[in-house]
Amino acid sequence: MRPDLIQRLAHTQAERARQSLLRRLRSVESVDGARIVIAGKALLNFASNDYLGLARHPALIEALQRGAARWGVGSTAAHLLGGHREEHAALEENLARWTGRERALLFSTGYMANLGALQALLGEGDVCVQDKLNHASLLDAAKMCGAQLKRYVHADTGSAARQLDTQADAAALLATDGVFSMDGDVAPLAELAALCMAQHATLMVDDAHGIGVLGTDGAGSVSEAGVSAEQAPVLMATLGKALGVGGAFVAGSAALIDGLVQFARPHIYTTAPPPALAAAASAAVDIARFEGWRRDKLARLIAHFRRGAVERGIELMPSRTPIQPVLIGASKATLTATQALEGEGFFVPAIRPPTVAQGKSRLRVALSARHEESDVEQLLNALARAVGRARTER
Ligand SMILES: Cc1ncc(COP(=O)(O)O)c(C=O)c1O
Repeated sequence: MRPDLIQRLAHTQAERARQSLLRRLRSVESVDGARIVIAGKALLNFASNDYLGLARHPALIEALQRGAARWGVGSTAAHLLGGHREEHAALEENLARWTGRERALLFSTGYMANLGALQALLGEGDVCVQDKLNHASLLDAAKMCGAQLKRYVHADTGSAARQLDTQADAAALLATDGVFSMDGDVAPLAELAALCMAQHATLMVDDAHGIGVLGTDGAGSVSEAGVSAEQAPVLMATLGKALGVGGAFVAGSAALIDGLVQFARPHIYTTAPPPALAAAASAAVDIARFEGWRRDKLARLIAHFRRGAVERGIELMPSRTPIQPVLIGASKATLTATQALEGEGFFVPAIRPPTVAQGKSRLRVALSARHEESDVEQLLNALARAVGRARTER
């Protein structure tokens, strides 16, 4: 008899629960600055990717309201079938200017942008070389596009070179996160760019966590590394993290973007995002570009957090970005630490397999320009207690 699919799913889920790996959907009841309320309890939020503190900025809210007043809520159609409005086009131009590329193309989510870019560029017989710690959407995109996926040791250009060498004649794309989402470290982009130039491979950077945060005007990790548009011809970034809105884009040459419009299925076969969202994202780009004090404040908070962690004996990972993970190791101990922090009024999510490797469970602390130094100080004190207890549990 055929297995029952729902039963099988339930069985897999029970196994996940047994390993302390069950994920839990929780509704946030309200947000006020860096504070959120969950299950009736006010918590200082260290889980948000709103790195620059723009998600509730009055200029974004006003742009969204103006967009909605002009267009209504939904775009009502795919980009190619009447859904592409002036706000989308203006945002694409704004993003291209900011990132120093000829053109940009919007996608509804970063996940879809990665699927679309890889599916348009790669096919059977090609090779896609990726960092082992790349975001799931890049790995899924490679699996779906039909190319051979070869993963290299994290941030190791030599290992990437060896993977490229295994397929010396195949068309090749090397894809890396600019900033790694669960580790917070920055990819060795200048080295990877030199490797790709030497090997005639195309470099693609997913800068979901670098855009707005790195580089003098927030143009991201590629700009900060001094890597040119020719060296990194495919740049993807999201609008839902430092920009505080939602959606994503791919930026590059006119030839790349024209090709994506024709062949990127997640752009073609989906309803365009609401034009009001595009208006809000354009307002966010202007603030992210020109209000450098937000990056300066973030840098001060990051330095404070790292200094305070050292003083308290909390081991950190080598990150200079707002993503500051605290490695615990075992999933159960990580869960206990998260719960202890919540008991003390802090929301710091536990990141466990399969998002990270077995034995690498961690607390993912995300800092935002919305935090104050006093928030960071309180978190450090609570973390020291929670991590201390987790260590004895290991
Ligand atoms: C590195 C990276 N790429 C892509 C994505 C997907 O972006 P989105 O949330 O817009 O789908 C994320 C996070 O969500 C990410 O961290």
